[in-house]
Amino acid sequence: MKIQGKHYHTIWVDEKDSAIVKVIDQRKLPFVFETFSLRSADDAFFAIKEMVVRGAPLIGVTAAYGMYLALLHLKQENREQELNEVAGYLKTSRPTAVNLAFAVDEMLAFILAQKEEAGLKEKVQAKAAALKQLEIEYGDSIGEYGVKLIEAIYKAKGSTVNILTHCNAGWLACIDWGTATAPIYKAHLKGIPVHVWVDETRPRNQGARLTAYELGEQGVSHTVIPDNAGGHFMQHGMVDMVIVGSDRTTVTGDVANKIGTYLKALAAHDNKVPFYVALPSSTFDWEMHDGVKEIPIEQRAADEVAEIEGWHNNEIKSVQLIPESSAVANYGFDVTPARLVSGLISERGICKANKESILELYPEKNR
Ligand code: MRU
Repeated sequence: MKIQGKHYHTIWVDEKDSAIVKVIDQRKLPFVFETFSLRSADDAFFAIKEMVVRGAPLIGVTAAYGMYLALLHLKQENREQELNEVAGYLKTSRPTAVNLAFAVDEMLAFILAQKEEAGLKEKVQAKAAALKQLEIEYGDSIGEYGVKLIEAIYKAKGSTVNILTHCNAGWLACIDWGTATAPIYKAHLKGIPVHVWVDETRPRNQGARLTAYELGEQGVSHTVIPDNAGGHFMQHGMVDMVIVGSDRTTVTGDVANKIGTYLKALAAHDNKVPFYVALPSSTFDWEMHDGVKEIPIEQRAADEVAEIEGWHNNEIKSVQLIPESSAVANYGFDVTPARLVSGLISERGICKANKESILELYPEKNR
């Protein structure tokens, strides 16, 4: 996708130095466009934890490159133990997005299976690149399936399709295309008139800052709305469909996504607005069956709620929002039960949010 007309991915290996992995520093968008360099697994851990990078697929790919960077700096004594330790450490950087564990496990198994030292670093770099490429293809394919839903609404309605989205499940959360935004970008490219209601997504405002920014850069019509406005918009027929992303979806179709998603799903259900979740297979948790009981929900620092960041006098500044002595709770995600989900859009097609339908798309997971 593009920034100022130039094509970017969210992560890449530095052209001049293959020991450096570059990412777009998402803490500074939309105010400043800067890259951030990762030189070690510690840097990858920091980038994920501090949300220099965020979004389930990108967290996974960053952790994959974290394993590659770890390999470059391994001590020679007990390499297998060291790699296992780094893998475990990277997995603790953020607990909810299952893509992280998926990517780290893939990399660990790949590295440990290599017997030859010659060309090992290049092979491991290529493996991380392959995981990155897979996420690009997943986004592309999600877009192709999802655009059919938008097209059908447009045919029935004959005017602009209004889509509500929460948080940033866009290309900035992935590598390219995004998940929830992929069908929107495909529709826009096909000339289908679309308009996006962008939930601001407190506390970190990924909607207001990132989704609005990336939609704007691709020329997609959008409006930022307060988090608590979606229900009102739905009651007044201003939303034709909701598309959100996911950080972890159980094999039974329960969806963990950014806090506030559940409330949008309830409002959509009450107003008979279709509520779709777009996700690649790397976001499915094939072991979990009850999202509310089983999915670990990240709790983040109080200052994300107590303060708010913005652009003032050419600088990103934080200001205090709440009384100094008030307590804060900051759960990063919530779980939308499968019964509130109209369908899942994955790289293999659209299915119902239930085990039978999901496993029909992924028969190899039917164990
Ligand atoms: O805390 P974040 O910004 O990493 O949360 C991101 C989300 O909740 C996204 O909706 C989700 O990762 C889907 S990304 C394509």
